[in-house]
Amino acid sequence: MMKSWARKFSHKKGACGFVPTLGAMHEGHGSLIRRAQRENDRVVVSVFVNPCQFRKNQYLRYPRNLEADALLSSREGADVLFAPSARQMYPNGFNSDSSVVMPGMFKRIQSQKLGWHYRAVLVVVLKLFGIVGPDRAYFGLKDPHQLALIEKMVEDFDLPVMIRPCPTMRERDGLAFSSRNALLSPDERKAASVIYRALRLGRDEIVLHEGQKRQKSVSKVISRMEAMISASRLARAERIEIVDAATLLPLGKDSRTAMIHVSVRVGSQRLTDNLRFKLKK
Ligand code: PAJ
Repeated sequence: MMKSWARKFSHKKGACGFVPTLGAMHEGHGSLIRRAQRENDRVVVSVFVNPCQFRKNQYLRYPRNLEADALLSSREGADVLFAPSARQMYPNGFNSDSSVVMPGMFKRIQSQKLGWHYRAVLVVVLKLFGIVGPDRAYFGLKDPHQLALIEKMVEDFDLPVMIRPCPTMRERDGLAFSSRNALLSPDERKAASVIYRALRLGRDEIVLHEGQKRQKSVSKVISRMEAMISASRLARAERIEIVDAATLLPLGKDSRTAMIHVSVRVGSQRLTDNLRFKLKK
């Protein structure tokens, strides 16, 4: 059913832009849809809370609001909102034999522990590409590891789609828009603004140094950021990495662009964010 719909849709003339989401849309999603609208003749947005990429209790608690998503998508210029059920997406159950794995890349982004999650993301994105058949697909730099894995999948499997990375949209206090922000209490929401402050502190300290001094400063900078985050009682840094933004490997003395990536626990939520910046040679 979905494929025949897609086939009809893709026979239409003109380029198709695609924005896959988990729903509970916000300005970050809005910015992706607007860009897809500018660069294509028609835009498909998908809303699918993919059970396979969540731990069970996180899946059940993930915010859902399809009506508001439909309004936001059409306001931003989407032509079609595709919101399949889990049954439609996985008629034979979730544990299909087919998979997409990248052991080397999972290791490189130091996410062996999250391998199951990224594998599920790659499978669902590949399925959605197969169903929708887009010319261009839009993904946020907010999730740099997810983006890098999808870019690699597209390159390695010669998928006929162009991946367009899009910048992170932030609230006024710098907190990156995220569907999970809605699950924070007012106090937790206030505390969460420390994430962006810590990222900027990290950046300001890293750019002070050059070459090997910079590499040596990394662990000190991470400790300062951790201290800043835990000083705000309700937040705790779970992981901070400072890497070469191009390779996602540890900063080398010749790195040109750095990325600081943080996972921060605020209340029951794990929020992730990152900042990229140029380095002096
Ligand atoms: P979701 O978290 O809904 O994000 C959908 C897209 O919006 C992703 O490409 C994400 O990077 C981007 N995004 C999220 N917050 C953003 C922000 N503040 N600014 C700009 N872009 C932002 O990522 C997923 O869904 C899923 O893993 C998915 C790819 C749909 C596969 O299930």
